[in-house]
Amino acid sequence: MRLLSLFLITFLFTLSSCQNETKEQSGMKKELFGKMPDGKEVYLYSISNKAGATMNVINYGAIIQSLTMPDKNGKFQDIVLGYDNLEGYLRNNPYFGAIVGRFGNRIGKGQFELDGKAYQLSVNDGPNHLHGGIAGFDKKYWNLEEITVPNGLGVQATYLSPDGEMGYPGNLTIKINIILTDQNELRFEYEAETDQPTILNPTHHAYFNLTGLMDNLILDHKLTIDADYITPTDSGLIPTGELLPVEGTPMDFRQPKLIGEDINMDYVPLKLAKGYDHNWVLNNYEKDVVRKVATLCDSVSGRVMEVYSDQPGIQFYSGNFLNGTIKGKGGVVYKFRSGLCLETQHFPDSPNKPDFPSVVLRPGEVYKQVTSYKFSVK
Ligand code: BGC
Repeated sequence: MRLLSLFLITFLFTLSSCQNETKEQSGMKKELFGKMPDGKEVYLYSISNKAGATMNVINYGAIIQSLTMPDKNGKFQDIVLGYDNLEGYLRNNPYFGAIVGRFGNRIGKGQFELDGKAYQLSVNDGPNHLHGGIAGFDKKYWNLEEITVPNGLGVQATYLSPDGEMGYPGNLTIKINIILTDQNELRFEYEAETDQPTILNPTHHAYFNLTGLMDNLILDHKLTIDADYITPTDSGLIPTGELLPVEGTPMDFRQPKLIGEDINMDYVPLKLAKGYDHNWVLNNYEKDVVRKVATLCDSVSGRVMEVYSDQPGIQFYSGNFLNGTIKGKGGVVYKFRSGLCLETQHFPDSPNKPDFPSVVLRPGEVYKQVTSYKFSVK
């Protein structure tokens, strides 16, 4: 009996120290996820950090296929929308977890002028250009290399966008470090160069649902955005060029507010977009200076996500085009507003709005962006 209990104690002790060990060890695995129509192999890179959080990234679209974070009880759950297999992404992907570009968001009629020359981009959103056109960065095969940084692991995603692709001038090389740190931070470091004057505005398009249960809506999440203005739009969601103060409107997120509180108000910008789908003009913009721009909280799970960025704007999109027709991971149907995006960016239609911060990139210059999503619990 004594011997048996000694054995049991030793066994339990070994088991618990093993569990701690796996939690404290970060790591990376690579496995085949599927094949592109041309036969190219798409791999899934699974990264785990020392805190037990995980991130999966695939070559197609440099998509973050899953991201697990702990809730207030230490339970890890996936907090982003997506698919279990490549076929889902190839068939119908409203940009779940993808890198979008070259120009994230809209350009009116897909037209702009640069140095006196007129360009026509691919149009894919009524008469307008959205997220890089019919085959933007989200549909490209990205080269992924595993990288290690002092406090985390990740992949370096690279892509060469040839001159003329989707109508954009210049051969553009883009490199993005996508890192999961041991402090539960998801970090994007972008760099790009061109051989001809061009425009560029890439972003990341994760749909978050901090409850970890994707049939919940995001209406009970509390959001704060550090912005005094939005860029109001016409009915095609192209900015008019004005700045509209958020003060006294449903667009005011300067103090934490439930997303569902004002979303159905009879207010023209909300009606035009079927909910929130606007660009907020972030306060304290200074080129290359990262500051906190937004905070998202879910009080039930206790998960908190803080967004840090050096960008002048953020698109808060409340998943208004999800309509119950997509069956995502685990067979869950994604309903109207079951995920939300917080896309750091330059303002939509910037190439046609001389008063907006410039999106022009010239040979010899290096485009840079740093955006990170920091997770914690409350
Ligand atoms: C845009 C929405 C668009 C969605 C596509 C968002 O970034 O702002 O208008 O429908 O992406 O999934």
